[in-house]
Amino acid sequence: MHDLSVSDIHGYMIDAGTAGVKQQVARLHLTGVHCVTLGCLRTGRTVHADACAMLHDVGKIMELSDFPENDYTDEGQLLGHIFIGAELIRDTAAKIEGFPQKLVMLLMHCILSHHGELEYGSPKVPETIEAFILHCADNMDAKTKMFEEMLAADNTQGSWAGYHRMLARNIRKSDYK
Ligand SMILES: [Fe+2]
Repeated sequence: MHDLSVSDIHGYMIDAGTAGVKQQVARLHLTGVHCVTLGCLRTGRTVHADACAMLHDVGKIMELSDFPENDYTDEGQLLGHIFIGAELIRDTAAKIEGFPQKLVMLLMHCILSHHGELEYGSPKVPETIEAFILHCADNMDAKTKMFEEMLAADNTQGSWAGYHRMLARNIRKSDYK
């Protein structure tokens, strides 16, 4: 019952109007978060981890305009992708007959808490194991990408690529591949 409901809501979200280019851009991040989340859930608690990993940034569909503009929309500026995503989950689930209310609440919690801390835009900190793992996976994927981008763009001599402001540390180049 739960597996069916989770795939139902994912299908509805995709049908709800994801723009092709934005989907392409988001796919790598979603795949990274998805793999880490499911890899960490070795206890078999995959009831909604699968769906929340795939849907955690679904609000960006409305938060950002289409490529090549790719700028914040008014809705994105005023509401943000976390709130928009949680609303999308609730609205979409309401269209699916018999969708469990408790699962809606758990999915919404994952979306609302995936940035982990109040100061990073989440109105709730993760309070379920699935939400906590989702946050860790999202954080790891985003920060790994920052390392990758800095190292890819590096043209300095020596062992250090310099200071990364967002990561708040000096980045050393790897000696071994
Ligand atoms: Fe996010």
